[in-house]
Amino acid sequence: MNDSHSSSKIPTVTLNNGVEMPILGFGVFQVGPEETEKAVREALAAGYRLIDTAAAYGNEEAVGAAIAGSGIPREELFVTTKLWVQERPAEQNTTRAFEDSLRKLGLDYVDLYLIHQPFGDYYAQWRAMERLAADGRTRAIGVSNFASDRILDLILNNDVAPAVNQIETNPFHQRADDQGILASEGVQIESWGPFAEGKNGLFSNHLLTEVGAGYGKSVAQVVLRWLIQRGVVVIPKTVSPARMAQNLDVFDFTLTDADMAKIATLDEGSTQFFDHRDPDMVRWLSARRLA
Ligand SMILES: NC(=O)c1ccc[n+]([C@@H]2O[C@H](COP(=O)([O-])OP(=O)(O)OC[C@H]3O[C@@H](n4cnc5c(N)ncnc54)[C@H](OP(=O)(O)O)[C@@H]3O)[C@@H](O)[C@H]2O)c1
Repeated sequence: MNDSHSSSKIPTVTLNNGVEMPILGFGVFQVGPEETEKAVREALAAGYRLIDTAAAYGNEEAVGAAIAGSGIPREELFVTTKLWVQERPAEQNTTRAFEDSLRKLGLDYVDLYLIHQPFGDYYAQWRAMERLAADGRTRAIGVSNFASDRILDLILNNDVAPAVNQIETNPFHQRADDQGILASEGVQIESWGPFAEGKNGLFSNHLLTEVGAGYGKSVAQVVLRWLIQRGVVVIPKTVSPARMAQNLDVFDFTLTDADMAKIATLDEGSTQFFDHRDPDMVRWLSARRLA
């Protein structure tokens, strides 16, 4: 983790192509298009500079409107969007889908473009993304929901290695082994669902509550701090301005090694959502087409 810059209090990580990415950002999954512009406007005002959206979230236009209205210089922002599963020919369709996303966002480049799901002809999608990166239309390219064997195969058979793998990572699904493999290949791990969307009683978890009490911090703050101390990029979602501020306020304390070790005991080693290798999910996600 790099220290914060003067323009922002949020520290960064350096990706494998030298691009700096804030270690904490703001996610907008399951935020409706009407609500998104307000939420992103409030998040930017609170100090977030990384916004994580996706073509599949249906809210890229609202994200773009909030960015345009913010008056924040483009180079201070880090915008991530994601490519949904494409029909063949996947190379051409990827370029077309990227241009749709850029138009909806009202931007002339994004900072990070991710393959959203490890399905379809993602090798062809990746080749198109390598070209988008070479042309400077996205500053970095990466993947999401790739198991370590799949990302390794992608790395071994292409010119450009993904800068990021965005995967479910939270106290109940800690991904230490996956993080180790990604780190050995120079790939940054990014957590989605840092709070497991509150599943499994996360916000009232006894151990996390007790750890937080020692620092005067909430469970949410403990979880974000624990991920950040592990070097994991986090993009928590909230539509509440008070929680936006709370989730940003995690840079004034350090969890002790003993508390990090306590949190490690919460790992259940499996997803709180669904397994991307479940054949029913492969069928369901692969069949989904964006309007
Ligand atoms: N690549 C992928 O496949 C994928 C999948 C899922 C998510 N993501 C990305 O990751 C982001 C985060 O994951 P997520 O949205 O699934 O879930 P999450 O961030 O783990 O949890 C969001 C939930 O936590 C609540 N919350 C947030 N801050 C809180 C706080 N301080 N105290 C108590 N409750 C709090 C929110 O409620 P309120 O909004 O009511 O405050 C919301 O219900 C997404 O928005 C998206 O950008 C990517």
